[in-house]
Amino acid sequence: MSEAIKKRVSIPVILTGGITEFAAAEELLQAGKADLIGVGRAILKDSLWAKRAMQGPVEFEYWKGAPAEAHKEWRRIMENNLRQSHAFEIHCWEDESEAVRMALSYGTVKMSNWKQGTVIEGKVTQDFTDFLLSLPVPEGNDLTPRRMTPFFSIFLDNGFSSEHYGTELNQQ
Ligand SMILES: Cc1cc2nc3c(=O)[nH]c(=O)nc-3n(C[C@H](O)[C@H](O)[C@H](O)COP(=O)(O)O)c2cc1C
Repeated sequence: MSEAIKKRVSIPVILTGGITEFAAAEELLQAGKADLIGVGRAILKDSLWAKRAMQGPVEFEYWKGAPAEAHKEWRRIMENNLRQSHAFEIHCWEDESEAVRMALSYGTVKMSNWKQGTVIEGKVTQDFTDFLLSLPVPEGNDLTPRRMTPFFSIFLDNGFSSEHYGTELNQQ
């Protein structure tokens, strides 16, 4: 409807209602369907929604600072995103049977076309959150990548992902 209104008026048009994802807002703007996007409930749920949208992907500079500090930062970001999520997907490579076993304590195997590994899906429960946040501070230095989790990737249903063993954090 905003598209039709925009054709008839010469003032900016705001589209509001049901927008929860940054990408959806950007797509509508790029497509010229509105000049501004109004976001209500998504911002009530996450007061940093607009700030995150402006920042784009979260770049986690894990290689800076001491491992304990990097881990503390990783935990802070994870905790925040786990709080905003209901479901997770964990991807483990085929030789990572110990990681698969750990993930299966919190979820079940998901059918997927990924031939080189296993996908585990589950609900973000308090147990799962406690488990992730209590993982030990990783060992390592600048030459050996610091791993925050034993899991190659963790995808949350709020668009956040912890990838390459938690060394890359992204917010879609
Ligand atoms: C708690 C709450 C209070 C609201 N108060 C107002 C208001 O005072 N004036 C108004 O025009 N819209 C108000 N709205 C409507 C929102 O601006 C918005 O149009 C609506 O929530 C749909 O957008 P959303 O899907 O992004 O939440 C309110 C919405 C909520 C959830």
